[in-house]
Amino acid sequence: MQNNIIIRIETPNDYAATENLTREAFWNVYRPGCLEHYVLHCFRGKKDFVPGLSLVMEQSGKLIGHVMYVRSEIHADDGRNIPAMTFGPISITPEFKRQGYGTILLRESMRRAEALGVGALAIEGNIGFYGKSGFVVASARGIHYAAEPRDAEVPYFLVCELKPGFLDGVTGTYQDPEGYFVDEAEAERFDAQFPPKEKKKLPGQLV
Ligand SMILES: CC(C)(COP(=O)(O)OP(=O)(O)OC[C@H]1O[C@@H](n2cnc3c(N)ncnc32)[C@H](O)[C@@H]1OP(=O)(O)O)[C@@H](O)C(=O)NCCC(=O)NCCS
Repeated sequence: MQNNIIIRIETPNDYAATENLTREAFWNVYRPGCLEHYVLHCFRGKKDFVPGLSLVMEQSGKLIGHVMYVRSEIHADDGRNIPAMTFGPISITPEFKRQGYGTILLRESMRRAEALGVGALAIEGNIGFYGKSGFVVASARGIHYAAEPRDAEVPYFLVCELKPGFLDGVTGTYQDPEGYFVDEAEAERFDAQFPPKEKKKLPGQLV
């Protein structure tokens, strides 16, 4: 691959390093500290986790990125459950951020999801990043985020069709898979295994 980059499926030997990478990437970004490394840690044992789409990115042998995928579904207004996937945490190690690596990892993971037959992806995230890889605001496609009122503008809830037309004629709601909701006290105990890091309250955090 370009720039000595390799993207491959994560193995158990990578687990500690990918959790640490996730912690480094998310630390103090959306809240003081972060929970995402614990989310990743817990998901590996869950049935909706997709091992073949838990991918690591290496550059010249150094781990610089990771993404994981989870099976999910859209509850259509006509009563169908439409299979989909979500993904995340997606992480690029801090010193490699904003150099195009996240986009390369995202697009390769989308290509692999498409090859597995996935019809659509749903994700909470920044349209500034995901919009460049084909994501659109979900409500514009009639897919609503269950955590918000149906008529609310939810600019951070996004979808992307991997099979063109997969969402045609589908309206409905989407709920995050349960594994994304972790107990904060348990996450705190898990975090104590990692090197100490200062939690900071910073502008722009969500919590
Ligand atoms: C988000 C993340 C995976 C993106 O990877 P990256 O390698 O930094 O991103 P890229 O260099 O490929 O970005 C390409 C473009 O996407 C947009 N973009 C990237 N990160 C963005 C962000 N946080 N907010 C808004 N736009 C962003 C920019 O337009 C960027 O181009 P530019 O740098 O020329 O302005 C990475 O920054 C990261 O690990 N962040 C912390 C964890 C996180 O927020 N994960 C996503 C949660 S939804």
